[in-house]
Amino acid sequence: MAIEIKTAAEIETMRVAGRLAAEVLEMIAPYVVAGVTTEELDRICHEHIVDVQKAIPAPLNYHGFPKSICSSVNHQVCHGIPSPKRLKDGDIVNLDITVIKDGFHGDTSQMFFVGEPNQRARHVTRIAMECLYLAIRMVRPGVRLGDLGAAIQRHAETHGCSIVREYCGHGIGRAFHEDPQVLHYGTPGTGIELVPGMTFTIEPMVNAGKRHVKLLPDNWTVITKDRSPSAQWEHTLAVTDSGCEVLTLRRGEVI
Ligand code: MF3
Ligand code: CO
Ligand code: CO
Repeated sequence: MAIEIKTAAEIETMRVAGRLAAEVLEMIAPYVVAGVTTEELDRICHEHIVDVQKAIPAPLNYHGFPKSICSSVNHQVCHGIPSPKRLKDGDIVNLDITVIKDGFHGDTSQMFFVGEPNQRARHVTRIAMECLYLAIRMVRPGVRLGDLGAAIQRHAETHGCSIVREYCGHGIGRAFHEDPQVLHYGTPGTGIELVPGMTFTIEPMVNAGKRHVKLLPDNWTVITKDRSPSAQWEHTLAVTDSGCEVLTLRRGEVI
């Protein structure tokens, strides 16, 4: 499938969708505390998206996904299903929010600390965020996807972490997952060249231990094989003439 280059008008609509997705993370942050269940976080996000934002939570029923957000705790890598289990002191939690507004998607995720996680969990969380940020800072026309993947991989591995290979960033627009695939590992000078009007996510999944993962019997939740903690951060970007615009930037967030 070809990469869809968005018009200025389409990017304006994606700006709205991206802002709404970011706003869900801003809204939910104070609720991510010890004792809350991820099912409760899902319900609060769902009601905010549907009733306040008048938008659509994209994960709900996507290929059969049963909830409106993904919540991945500790050694869960991604696509965790919100559940009645309570968060506890020391947990690290990824909440991944995707909303559809006026036909376009905005997709973003961040990590939260519950109380004081241990040093290894805090380390992998920081490295994953740095991987996302250094890649975002590289995005401009002419840069190739392999350049981004290689830089992300090098940063993670230099700091004793590993990159999950089975899942990647993606083009995004009218569809949740469009071409191209945005790998978080690779070789500089390879892959397609970025051009203005491309919209895609970068969402590195970084493990504190080995890179290998397995799928739980629920057929959604991905965990690390060695049960090491895993972290992920995600933004939706648009390539501009001179760099990129982060469509899901949160208030006060500096990249
Ligand atoms: N939000 C995820 C991504 O970043 C996809 C979740 S698909 C779901 O691409 F079905 F699990 F919600
Ligand atoms: Co995504
Ligand atoms: Co996402």
